[in-house]
Amino acid sequence: MSSTPNASARPSPGGPRRTPDVLVVGGGIIGLVTAWRAAQRGLATALVDPEPGGGAARVAAGMLAAVTELHYGEQTLLSLNLASAERYPGFAAELADATGHDLGYRRCGTLAVALDADDRAHLRELHAFQQRCGLASEWLPGRECRRLEPMLAPGVRGGLRVEGDHQIDPRRLARALVAACEGAGVVFHRVWADRLTVSGDRARGVVTADGTALEAGQTVLAGGSLSGRLAGVPDEVLPPVRPVKGQVLRLTMPAAHGPLLSRTVRAVVRGNPLYLVPRENGELVVGATSEELGWDTTVTAGGVYELLRDAHELVPGITELPLAETCAGLRPGSPDNAPLLGPTGLEGLLLATGHHRNGVLLTPVTGDVMADVLTTGELPEQARPFTPRRFGAVPASTERTA
Ligand code: GLY
Repeated sequence: MSSTPNASARPSPGGPRRTPDVLVVGGGIIGLVTAWRAAQRGLATALVDPEPGGGAARVAAGMLAAVTELHYGEQTLLSLNLASAERYPGFAAELADATGHDLGYRRCGTLAVALDADDRAHLRELHAFQQRCGLASEWLPGRECRRLEPMLAPGVRGGLRVEGDHQIDPRRLARALVAACEGAGVVFHRVWADRLTVSGDRARGVVTADGTALEAGQTVLAGGSLSGRLAGVPDEVLPPVRPVKGQVLRLTMPAAHGPLLSRTVRAVVRGNPLYLVPRENGELVVGATSEELGWDTTVTAGGVYELLRDAHELVPGITELPLAETCAGLRPGSPDNAPLLGPTGLEGLLLATGHHRNGVLLTPVTGDVMADVLTTGELPEQARPFTPRRFGAVPASTERTA
């Protein structure tokens, strides 16, 4: 979303078209799944984004980690995370069938391990909390962890085996969602949305950076970390999302020696959360930093060093692998780490944003919830705690320049 107001909007090129029922602003996985599900429900749907399938999913590791990423104070979010995890097998099968794409969906489970006494105490507490929440996880001594994953460091002190936390390849997921949208008749406008159009106290669509007016019955703002920057959105409904930087590495596991790891491995090393996600195609994703640095997406020597240093402590053999890629992206953080879903106080404007660490996990349930609310006007029961109306107006000083 660019911020430059464009006063002289012109109608869509090619003459009048049917005004779509829904215009989705943002073509990351959340915008795409919203558009796909809306189109499947018979709504005429358009999506505006210069590069659909880009965004934070280009960087994300794709852990579906409702149980191992449980945090204190996030029990409400947990219910939505679990609902989405439950939908994943059906969602992935439907998307693969609809598009013929391989999504890299692996039901491989996750092992969260401790390297020292402090980490062990932390994991023990997490285990107790998971049990209080009724979640399936099993405590294993260090030797059992190494039996499951022989490349782990000999000093591993114990860990949690979570058979229900899986993974998907977010880049493939994004590509498949673009194809699914195309197949379902979603109209793509490959351009930045410049500003929201509001008249008669309701949202009417957007004006794009090339000055085209795109109208729609309902406009869904799904711009990830950029969602709070669209010009024209009244302050009282502006989503309070902020960018939370994550740096991630991609290494290559040589096919000849078999996989270095067979499942996702996580740890907290000196207080820094770390994860290693091995894909079937030999890619090993190592992540992630979590940095509150505004819009900066620089890959830093320090970020790469810390990820490699911590990953090497966990799996010493990692330093032998080719380093294929380093990248950084921006999670859309929200004040309570939970998404903002559904209608705002401005008629015709809905939100699907603020998914923070859980965008990939929450993709299936977000698509279903948004399709429900777009067709019925009502948020389904399970999504009501995530109404954008739980937050007040964003302070007027919020910067909106892109
Ligand atoms: N969910 C993993 C991350 O945000 O880094």
